[in-house]
Amino acid sequence: MNNFHTSVLLKEAIDLLQVKKGGKYIDATLGGGGHTKEILSRGGIVLGIDVDEEALDCVEKNFKFQILNFKLTLVKGNFRDLEKIARSNNFNKVSGIIFDLGVSSFQIEDGKRGFSFLKGGPLDMRMDKSLGVKAGDLINILPKGELYEIFTKLGEEHRARAISDGIVSARRIAPIKTTGDLLSVISKAYGIKGELTDFTRANIGKRVFQALRIAVNDELESIKEALPKSLGLLQKEGRVAVISFHSLEDRIVKQSFIDFEKRNMGEIITKKPIVAGEEEIKTNPRSRSAKLRVFARN
Ligand SMILES: C[S@@+](CC[C@H](N)C(=O)[O-])C[C@H]1O[C@@H](n2cnc3c(N)ncnc32)[C@H](O)[C@@H]1O
Repeated sequence: MNNFHTSVLLKEAIDLLQVKKGGKYIDATLGGGGHTKEILSRGGIVLGIDVDEEALDCVEKNFKFQILNFKLTLVKGNFRDLEKIARSNNFNKVSGIIFDLGVSSFQIEDGKRGFSFLKGGPLDMRMDKSLGVKAGDLINILPKGELYEIFTKLGEEHRARAISDGIVSARRIAPIKTTGDLLSVISKAYGIKGELTDFTRANIGKRVFQALRIAVNDELESIKEALPKSLGLLQKEGRVAVISFHSLEDRIVKQSFIDFEKRNMGEIITKKPIVAGEEEIKTNPRSRSAKLRVFARN
């Protein structure tokens, strides 16, 4: 795995965390370690968590010095278990926590992981390889109505009906095993014939692939569970920063922060979400849908 994930809203997120020298921070979505690196460079001590062993292996190689000097501790785990992971690593009261949700470029670029509509590969899509259910299991087993729900709710896919019909017909003949198999069902539902260009693949595939990824990794429930736990770990004036890429995810973050404020737990720092500027969007198109929200504990 190469180190080519470009962190989104890097400076904005870490500035708003107000990193203090010697302060303890949790990076709940370590990925390629971009946000962690910035926290370390400002003198913070980091507990880095990821469900993906490959992300941890990569960061372990690149941050040997900081690990040896006890500035960085790496843990494999799901941030829905944030409290347990933090406490068992002696991060009981922390100055800040960051969540940079979704998938990393490493995961998308590796065809074997099955996240990409542009790469051939098995329909896997698990960030955590110990999870039992892969995207292919959902595609080949779920009833039509449930597939339709997933595609509409999590992907806002307007051809969800035709695609779920197509999946059920296709799997009666043979299991849908690969990203290519799924794309050919989607392209039929869109009435497209012949070779697909990358542009068309992206255009017709991105919503269904996103919906499946969110379902396989139970992404919305995970962040819903993790946010209240993160507040419990923050010391006075400690901050939690969340970067989300999906409207449903952002709604969860926004609502959770409003709820915390109503319960007098602290203050919303970002009255409006922070978004990427034109320059960042130009160099890193993934940042286009990013929204950063920050909450400070009292
Ligand atoms: C967008 S990337 C983070 C990139 C990182 N901030 C950087 O700058 O390199 C998201 C990472 O979070 C991990 N992840 C997603 N959901 C998770 C969860 N529930 N618990 C722990 N890690 C998770 C993914 O495996 C992925 O490596």
